[in-house]
Amino acid sequence: MTATLAEREAALAEIAEGIRKCTRCELHRTRTNAVPGEGPADARIMLIGEAPGWNEDKQGRPFVGAAGKFLEELLAKAGLTRDQVFITNIVKSRPPGNRDPLPDEIAACIPWLERQIEVIDPDVIVTLGRFSMAQWFPGERISRIHGQPKRVGRRLIVPMYHPAAALHQQSLKATILDDFAKLPRILAEAEAARREEEASDEPPPSQMAMF
Ligand code: URA
Repeated sequence: MTATLAEREAALAEIAEGIRKCTRCELHRTRTNAVPGEGPADARIMLIGEAPGWNEDKQGRPFVGAAGKFLEELLAKAGLTRDQVFITNIVKSRPPGNRDPLPDEIAACIPWLERQIEVIDPDVIVTLGRFSMAQWFPGERISRIHGQPKRVGRRLIVPMYHPAAALHQQSLKATILDDFAKLPRILAEAEAARREEEASDEPPPSQMAMF
């Protein structure tokens, strides 16, 4: 049975509470705040970055620094605002000095992300950067597959460059802007697939008449 919006909000709040108290990896010792993520519980698009940076750790919110500002510009390119999408990270606590997250930190944190995906059930997941990309495209290179959606079940997973990479490398800026401009078409395709699946799940009219 499909959960109501209120039930999904409550489930997400419970997950966020678990993340804030989580001690499954060593990052809990050095973080100021864990960063569960934010956005509507019924968002159709979920964006998954790498890990909180300095600003995110201080505020407990994802993508609030320079990369976040650019992410808002990218979303605008797709006709979206940040309050329409769910934004989170593969690792919910800041690695010291913004180093790359370690494999055991990712492994410890991934069950939180899996629960968030289950509750939100988005039509489209956008991975930002190589760490979230690797969950769905192991061994792939972002330079080869960026902007190309892959179907997983009825969901579309779209690998994108990390906004911070484009901030530091001007040549990537046009590429990532073009990739985000494709999002409305990708979302429409994923929504159509969901509607088709939902329609095929409904019992045929003759069977419905029996009840
Ligand atoms: N970079 C990320 O990957 N995530 C954030 O939340 C901020 C910067």
